Amino acid sequence: MDGLAAADDDALRAVLAGEAAGAVLEGDNLAVLRALPDASVDLCYADPPFATGRTQRLSSIRTGSGEQTRRGFGERKYRYEVVSDLAYADELPLADHLAALRERVVEIRRVLAPHGSLYLHCDWRTTHHVRLLLDDVFGPERFLNELVWAYDYGGRPRDRWPRKHDTIQWYAKGDDWRFERDAIDRVPYLAPGLVGPEKAARGKLPTDVWWMTIVPPASAERTGYPTQKPVRLLERIVAASSRPGDLVLDPYAGSGTTGVAAARLGRRWLLVDRNPDAVEIARARLAAVDPAP
Ligand SMILES: C[S@@+](CC[C@H](N)C(=O)[O-])C[C@H]1O[C@@H](n2cnc3c(N)ncnc32)[C@H](O)[C@@H]1O
Repeated sequence: MDGLAAADDDALRAVLAGEAAGAVLEGDNLAVLRALPDASVDLCYADPPFATGRTQRLSSIRTGSGEQTRRGFGERKYRYEVVSDLAYADELPLADHLAALRERVVEIRRVLAPHGSLYLHCDWRTTHHVRLLLDDVFGPERFLNELVWAYDYGGRPRDRWPRKHDTIQWYAKGDDWRFERDAIDRVPYLAPGLVGPEKAARGKLPTDVWWMTIVPPASAERTGYPTQKPVRLLERIVAASSRPGDLVLDPYAGSGTTGVAAARLGRRWLLVDRNPDAVEIARARLAAVDPAP
């Protein structure tokens, strides 16, 4: 396939042929997207940088050992060491960011199967631009949902409502898309007393507002990669919009969350990231996943 190194080319061919469960490729996603055949992908989840204008960095420290010291509660001094310091670039000015995204969204649409769909994850900084961009490339009639992922973590400003949600725009390639209702996890009714015990016990299909925690800082799921998304969020998307054996693409893979969800649910996965740290983390995570029975 044009524009790819031989090893990536082999890995890509094996995934497309169903001979490998998945691949994590390092490089610019545009080159990989351009190398993919038309209609070869069943589902794409894309979580590009949010146009914050600065490097996204996450440092984790271990206290009790190390050469460096800090002052903590009660002015007590304690030792610490930095155990991981990971970052990715997000400095592009908005217009450049959107131009780069448009190029990739055009390719994503081309590589989606007729029943395929795209979930594009953004936040308040870009969601209004991204919606118009997607209307333009996919057509406004292909808009399916604007999902709100609501969480509650971190600081709270004193002068406005805390911004505690991301937006995920969902668009279909054609007029027939995958929505596997019965495979979707159910959530509790807000007023279970109003629906009777049987329905209350089953729970309901989530609406377009999803309350889910971020990956907790001390959890085993945490990789240390900045802006890592929860596997549970991706499992809901993969379960709803693909079937076992389908190919799931994540061109902005980061720590590989989409691949983990896809592997657990018996889908094939193709992950791309230009950051070598992301690729290393995603490969290690995927090597540790127990595939679906
Ligand atoms: C918001 S993070 C993705 C986080 C991921 N969803 C997770 O759960 O860890 C965005 C990622 O896109 C990658 N990226 C940005 N532009 C890219 C490009 N043109 N090609 C490949 N990767 C890119 C960055 O290196 C970064 O890892």
